[in-house]
Amino acid sequence: MEKTQVESDKILIAYLSRTKNTKAVAEMIHREVGGDLVELELVTPYPENYRAIVDQVARENESGFLPVLKTKIQEMESYGIIFVGFPTWGMQLPPPLKSFLNQYDLSGKTVIPFNTNAGYGIGSSFETVEKLCPNSDILEGFSTKGGIERDGILFVMKGEKEIKVKSQIKGWLKRIGMI
Ligand SMILES: Cc1cc2nc3c(=O)[nH]c(=O)nc-3n(C[C@H](O)[C@H](O)[C@H](O)COP(=O)(O)O)c2cc1C
Repeated sequence: MEKTQVESDKILIAYLSRTKNTKAVAEMIHREVGGDLVELELVTPYPENYRAIVDQVARENESGFLPVLKTKIQEMESYGIIFVGFPTWGMQLPPPLKSFLNQYDLSGKTVIPFNTNAGYGIGSSFETVEKLCPNSDILEGFSTKGGIERDGILFVMKGEKEIKVKSQIKGWLKRIGMI
């Protein structure tokens, strides 16, 4: 299908984050490119307990369940550039992001994924973003190692790691022409 570009350079940075690593990356991107920064929250939050959330997400991935988002984006049509941030969950795109990309039509917009994970990578998450945004211009994504909640390692975007990720983000944003 023909891609019709949205004539807007207004930026939205929408992200999902449980232990705040993806949130920290979203904030670093925001500092560089500006725009509106929005955390995606659910009507029914996930359980605090790690085993419980892992099991729930596995069931949701299996059944294709789309959790209802509490966060509503006002005037989505006014944005031309959408950064979407998420952790890897069960080697996939987290269900709330599937909800987000299902709910909003991002046709003609530029979509830029970013991710944190426990070291196993992005899995199928970036591919799923492409599948769910068939008429968007998807730019190179960014991914970095975040926490390992399974081993009790939660927030890691501080000290040396924070400095390193900030510089990697700058390099990536330059490469894709965002700064
Ligand atoms: C339910 C769940 C499933 C996860 N599955 C994976 C996985 O498949 N691969 C991986 O590398 N990390 C996995 N992780 C770890 C997170 O991707 C990692 O800790 C990430 O940095 C968390 O981001 P956040 O702090 O923004 O929530 C999982 C975490 C949770 C809570």
